[in-house]
Amino acid sequence: MKFLYNAWYPAGWATDIETGKMVAKTFLNQRIVMFRDSQGVVKALEDRCPHRFVPLHLGELKGDTIQCAYHGLTFDCSGACVLNPHGNGAIPKAAKVRSYPMAEVYGLVWIWMGDADKADQALISDFTELDPVKKFVGKSYLLVNANYVLENDNIMDLSHIEFLHKASLGSSKVSEGKIDVVQVGDTVHSMRSTSAEKLTADLERMRGIPPGQLVDRWLDVRWNAPASMLLTTGFTYTGRPKEEGRELFSTHLFTPETESTTHYWFGIAFPRSMGPEGETLAEQNIKWLIQPFSKEDMPMLEAQQQTIGDRDFWSLNPVLLPSDGGAVRARRVLDRLIKEEQESLGLVASTELS
Ligand code: FES
Ligand SMILES: [Fe+2]
Repeated sequence: MKFLYNAWYPAGWATDIETGKMVAKTFLNQRIVMFRDSQGVVKALEDRCPHRFVPLHLGELKGDTIQCAYHGLTFDCSGACVLNPHGNGAIPKAAKVRSYPMAEVYGLVWIWMGDADKADQALISDFTELDPVKKFVGKSYLLVNANYVLENDNIMDLSHIEFLHKASLGSSKVSEGKIDVVQVGDTVHSMRSTSAEKLTADLERMRGIPPGQLVDRWLDVRWNAPASMLLTTGFTYTGRPKEEGRELFSTHLFTPETESTTHYWFGIAFPRSMGPEGETLAEQNIKWLIQPFSKEDMPMLEAQQQTIGDRDFWSLNPVLLPSDGGAVRARRVLDRLIKEEQESLGLVASTELS
């Protein structure tokens, strides 16, 4: 399976990258070390010393450089070797590591895995609704043993909450819901609404809804390639206009670690204007959500990955249901973007994938 390289990928919550510490992660099969320079700006280098290939994150962060723990070669933020403590100190031409463009926006750190010249921060999808300047954000993370596109499918088709999350997020009305799929450019919206829905006791409690009160609910997912989704959920008491409803914003952000493992950052936001109550709600909600995500979605997707193995998803001729519209649309966009990128790199003949 091929990845999309010219894209911004979430690389972590900004708060995960602490001053003076190195954070090592693998993205798209590439080992990367991230750190903040002396100005606090996040940097990323290939996490492999070009001398004897040990991870640079085992070394020492010295100002704006990393010194390799093994024989002391030292690299600056651009990946250039700036110190060779051996012999006459001459720096071999090949003594350099790749550096990756980074951005820090919406409380997240983003990495550009492709051609550095094409890394334009304006291409990052809009997650203003989770900007820590305006919001208290409950934040969490999982490493899932499943391909990231299965994660796209999971969020783009929320019909599964009726079955997989019946005790927490679901209800028997979800599969009867109205579904709309809208594509604007390469952005895909998968929208589901229900009416006269009796929510789970958990959801009633978390949203302050009187037990048994019927609601009309909407679950709108906005997808951007490769796998960044903003979920807007809202409800009104049944029969009341949508404008009266309360909306909540959450993120489902996925970055492939490998073909079969995925980083998953999810967060939920409450306005800072709520004061301390908003902060408490953000913490309570994220603690509550980790249960269904880690105990229900994650084992299901990992089992799915095991069943699919290395096989191409479409080669298995999946049955398609009406609820698959958004997920399939997103897959088509992603496949096309990857194909176009591969063609532009001359990696495949243009007819090979058509
Ligand atoms: S392995 Fe890094 S300096 Fe030798
Ligand atoms: Fe789920």
